[in-house]
Amino acid sequence: MKYRTIGTDPKTRREVSVLALGTMHFGTTTDEATSFAILDRYAQAGGTFIDTADNYAFWIGGTQGGESEELLGRWRRSRGIGDEIVIATKLGARPLAPGTSYTDNAEGLSARVIRESAERSRDRLGMARLDLLYAHIEDPRVPLAETVEGFAALVSEGTVGLLGVSNHWTWRVERARALAAAAGLPGYEVLQYQHSYLRPRTDLPGQLSPDGNQSAAGGDLLSYLRAEPGLVMVAYSPLLKGGYARRDKLDAPEFAEYDHPGTPARLSALREVAADVGATVNQVVLAWLIGGQPPIIPLVGASSVAQLDENLAAADLELTADQRARLDAAR
Ligand SMILES: NC(=O)c1ccc[n+]([C@@H]2O[C@H](COP(=O)([O-])OP(=O)(O)OC[C@H]3O[C@@H](n4cnc5c(N)ncnc54)[C@H](OP(=O)(O)O)[C@@H]3O)[C@@H](O)[C@H]2O)c1
Repeated sequence: MKYRTIGTDPKTRREVSVLALGTMHFGTTTDEATSFAILDRYAQAGGTFIDTADNYAFWIGGTQGGESEELLGRWRRSRGIGDEIVIATKLGARPLAPGTSYTDNAEGLSARVIRESAERSRDRLGMARLDLLYAHIEDPRVPLAETVEGFAALVSEGTVGLLGVSNHWTWRVERARALAAAAGLPGYEVLQYQHSYLRPRTDLPGQLSPDGNQSAAGGDLLSYLRAEPGLVMVAYSPLLKGGYARRDKLDAPEFAEYDHPGTPARLSALREVAADVGATVNQVVLAWLIGGQPPIIPLVGASSVAQLDENLAAADLELTADQRARLDAAR
């Protein structure tokens, strides 16, 4: 396993593995024994960066979520896990009532929600301090300064280490960071977006905004990352939920954004490079993200130890400059 640093302040920055593990389905779709086996294998392989959220996975059982954090809390306790594993969680997109969704009934990002939800996450995870806490989705109803100050208060009290942001338009990330900087407060340092080798169309209305899909890392966000080397990007759904391995998944309506002429060209470049290096297509996608400029931390899900093993091997896969150039050039 390889490692890199997230965060810039020597007091709060952390070393994490270059491959992160998502636990969105742990405790619901993925049963406890399988989830524990995946977590054990990840830790044994040197993985140290685990991702969850306070709303995982509300949509499975019509709950408000919390099953994933609770499972992680049980795993941490049963294995005696301490500071060696960085656990990131998110708040803001927990539905306010069972049977509802973040699209129209999210808890949001008021100072009160930030304080109370972080407290509940700490309880479920069994952690005195959350290593990394993200704003999960935007809350346009709350003044940005209130959100910025709400998160910063938890950092100064020592109940949160690093701050991150997910699924926000880039201009709102920049505005929030500028507000924090002007007030001498800690701001978002880790950005979590949907990102992979295949590129989605950006002109279709998104789930959260009629203006497009702000969850996908587009040119705005990538250029922002390049301009701010202290920021780190974590790419969620890098394997398109298994869509590279199973074409039928990629053809499902939820992947309509990938139905454009660039997709076949990129898929065939991917297959050629995978055959060249003797790796799977999934591994090439992950290696392309990890070793790219700027380097990106893929956040993979897995529903079996075998899937995780395939994904973990990508951390040791180095693409040559020529292979990378072929992948970059396909469009
Ligand atoms: N910030 C956000 O809003 C947000 C949104 C979504 C996810 N996330 C985070 O990102 C994590 C990963 O998301 P994701 O599950 O969508 O990621 P993903 O890594 O793209 O997809 C994981 C799924 O892909 C399949 N898979 C994984 N490895 C495979 C392999 N080697 N071969 C074949 N299939 C494989 C499995 O599907 P099957 O189980 O069907 O086999 C697995 O459940 C989540 O757990 C969560 O922590 C964050």
